Amino acid sequence: MHHLSLDQLTSLSTPCYCYDMQLLRLTLKAINQEIRQFPFKVHYAVKANGNAVILKEIAEHGLGADLVSGGELKAALEAGFKPQAIAFSGVGKTDREIEAGIESDIFSFNVESVPELEVINEIALRMGKNAGVVLRVNPDIDAHTHRYITTGTAHDKFGISLEMLPQVVRMAREMRGINMRGLHFHIGSQITTMRPFEMLCDKINQLQDDFEQQGIMFDIINVGGGLGIDYDNPDENPVPDFGSYFNVFKQGLKLRAGQEVHFELGRSIAAQCGSLIARVVFVKENRDKKFVILDAGMNDLLRPALYQANHRVMNLTSSAAAVDTYDVVGPVCESSDVFARDLQLPITSRGDIVAIRSAGAYGESMASTYNMRPLPSSHFFD
Ligand code: LLP
Repeated sequence: MHHLSLDQLTSLSTPCYCYDMQLLRLTLKAINQEIRQFPFKVHYAVKANGNAVILKEIAEHGLGADLVSGGELKAALEAGFKPQAIAFSGVGKTDREIEAGIESDIFSFNVESVPELEVINEIALRMGKNAGVVLRVNPDIDAHTHRYITTGTAHDKFGISLEMLPQVVRMAREMRGINMRGLHFHIGSQITTMRPFEMLCDKINQLQDDFEQQGIMFDIINVGGGLGIDYDNPDENPVPDFGSYFNVFKQGLKLRAGQEVHFELGRSIAAQCGSLIARVVFVKENRDKKFVILDAGMNDLLRPALYQANHRVMNLTSSAAAVDTYDVVGPVCESSDVFARDLQLPITSRGDIVAIRSAGAYGESMASTYNMRPLPSSHFFD
């Protein structure tokens, strides 16, 4: 962000997403550095940001892709992700989406239920093909993150419960249209301590031991995504601590010979390289409160309104030394359209340019046209 010149900034039409491509590259290099010499493969969770330019950069760094829809499949293939490095997740894949995945020879479907397994088998047999499958297990681990983004407890809709798993594994191994490759886990998102990942490793080890006793081995262990980022200090921690994260799995997982570990990281790859840039439309005073009203709203960046998420808001153009306290809000007709409350900013005026940081993941990809506002544009800086 900081290396954008004032001229570049003021000429942007707002609201728009700005991406720091150097930071994205640095992040991808950090990942590749950590996983080399290990049987680890990282798939980028396209849902975090499906922008074609971002996808292309990630594909060029050799990562695979984790998808949740036919639309994402199309975008990933167009961006150059190899089908053999594509995993298709999601609890409600349609027949059309399953056909498209099989047709493109993707590596695997992350299967979340018995009915889904049966349908994939049927469709694969009908197409005279064989579908790679990884079964998503609900490991019943509480990742202690926001309740809307925790996914691995027994009350969530995701995955196959531990009690049912042995039976479903056996079923999958017998289906002729299914190539049963392994187990998949995803416990939640924006996880900022390593403890839940350590617990996940223990659970996986225990499951693998149980299956081994029945003579069952897996090629693939997919541990999902979820590594969190520092929303409070994007400039101090622009690249997440991939060292600690991958170490948990290097040390914690008891791998069998020939086994590969797959990861599905979204936020930790894309979040810090993106900012939502907005202009101040008005500064308004109401009794004892001051509001900075932006031309960007919850339709452009939904996270604060939907999850009470906190993104750093910075005034990029005010040169005032004095500060004041503001609520920073959007123009959308909803009281939840608020980016920050009681925020200290340098004295802010109409026309100032504001950056909402760490918005590269689940920002542009969750934007909508609510209030018939156009979708935000995107710009890329090297
Ligand atoms: N794998 C699966 C099966 C997932 O469901 C997800 C995210 C990921 C991988 C990637 O997780 P990540 O590494 O990005 O944490 N919109 C919310 C986040 C929703 C995450 C959904 N699943 C937000 O803005 O916080």
